[in-house]
Amino acid sequence: MSSVTIGINEFRNKLTSIQFKDEDRLRHMYMIGKTGVGKSTIFQNMCLQDIKQHRGACFIDPHGESIDWLLKRIPADRMEDVILFDPSDAEFPFGLNLLEAKSDWERDFLVSEVIQIFYKLFDPDHTGVIGPQFEHWLRNAALTVMAGPGGGTIIEIPRLFVDAGFEAEKRRHLTDPLVIDFWTKQMAKTSDFHKSEMLNYFMSKFGHFTNNALMRNIMGQHESSFDFDSVMDGRKILLVNLSKGKIGEMNAHILGLILVAKLQAAILRRARQSGGERTPFYLYVDEFQNFITDSFISLLSESRKYGLGVHLTNQYLAQLPAALRDAVLGNVGTLLSFEVGAEDAELLTKEFDPFTLHDFIGLPRFHFYIKLMIDGKTSNAFSGVGLPPEPPAPASDAIDGAVAIVNRLAYGTPRVLVEEMIRRELAQ
Ligand SMILES: Nc1ncnc2c1ncn2[C@@H]1O[C@H](COP(=O)(O)OP(=O)(O)OP(=O)(O)O)[C@@H](O)[C@H]1O
Ligand SMILES: [Mg+2]
Repeated sequence: MSSVTIGINEFRNKLTSIQFKDEDRLRHMYMIGKTGVGKSTIFQNMCLQDIKQHRGACFIDPHGESIDWLLKRIPADRMEDVILFDPSDAEFPFGLNLLEAKSDWERDFLVSEVIQIFYKLFDPDHTGVIGPQFEHWLRNAALTVMAGPGGGTIIEIPRLFVDAGFEAEKRRHLTDPLVIDFWTKQMAKTSDFHKSEMLNYFMSKFGHFTNNALMRNIMGQHESSFDFDSVMDGRKILLVNLSKGKIGEMNAHILGLILVAKLQAAILRRARQSGGERTPFYLYVDEFQNFITDSFISLLSESRKYGLGVHLTNQYLAQLPAALRDAVLGNVGTLLSFEVGAEDAELLTKEFDPFTLHDFIGLPRFHFYIKLMIDGKTSNAFSGVGLPPEPPAPASDAIDGAVAIVNRLAYGTPRVLVEEMIRRELAQ
């Protein structure tokens, strides 16, 4: 069985490489540590091994540095498998449509994900910023926009409320009595005053999707540039550059959340197909708390069966919402900690017996403690040190420039075409 090397363990002057087997990786990994201790480097090294050994992987990178690092090391025989999603590439925007459903259950799942994403972005503590009425409007509007041939996108939702012709055309395709009632009974009866008040509020939240040209050109395309079924089954390498500095923090969060929701839908599709071997696929998410919803975490306990191995990291445990923190710690088979602050050390000593508070605070850079899943059982905690970053391919073999060009043509669409298409869709 194949495996990846995480680092090196030294015990009584004997060095042993720390091997993480494929089967055990499907039980997931969480890594934590202060800035600069070597977290991204561990994921980069692991993902590069996946790439070289022809496994499928996706790396979601909120800084862009890990993606640039990987691109400088892609072997030529994997070049065709790379999908580089760089939303800052305004001239060749990729399409990413969250409301692309292949079945009825998937439509309902995606609509509930849209609602979760709105909560995560605008009302993470459920203080009422979103609330039941907003949710109700959003659910019905999303289901309406998806009705009919060709479906729809999130970008088109506001149009439903301001363009009677568009609303009528979409409503012709509705079959769900509850959604039909929303329009014929509830909306028809809502006073204009209340409607406009709610509408202003509703529209203000959609501004993030519709006002920004970069986001509109990505999220306004009906057809996504890639689908996770073929990414996973085809052992592709999906590199997602969500550099906050380039596209802004909110946009990075939105795109990351949508990607993860689409991956989740693909995993649930796998779950519904009977039997057979599922091609394993490995996901890496840096600063995961921004991109992962509660529903994704709840999938972790089952996703092993469906061949998804998830690797998550961030800098602080204590700052995560308690429910998320407990769900992560409860659902990962492998736990790795570099040096952490006092508050986190206290939380972690429970997990890493016999190591003490003192051990976690004094750890040198690149050194860690790990509880590793080995053949389905979590080991006792032991120590290790990360591998140094692998040197880049020699300049003569560098293919990062070629990857970017090929990729634009294969998956992106020229901006003028996208804008023309969206103008027609949003025409009023
Ligand atoms: N085992 C190692 N040996 C030598 N250098 C290393 C090792 N691991 C990481 N480095 C180097 O240390 C620096 C910091 O590493 P890295 O970016 O992985 O840290 P990080 O934990 O991801 O930090 P942040 O939380 O700020 O993202 C990088 O320049 C990296 O190349
Ligand atoms: Mg990092």
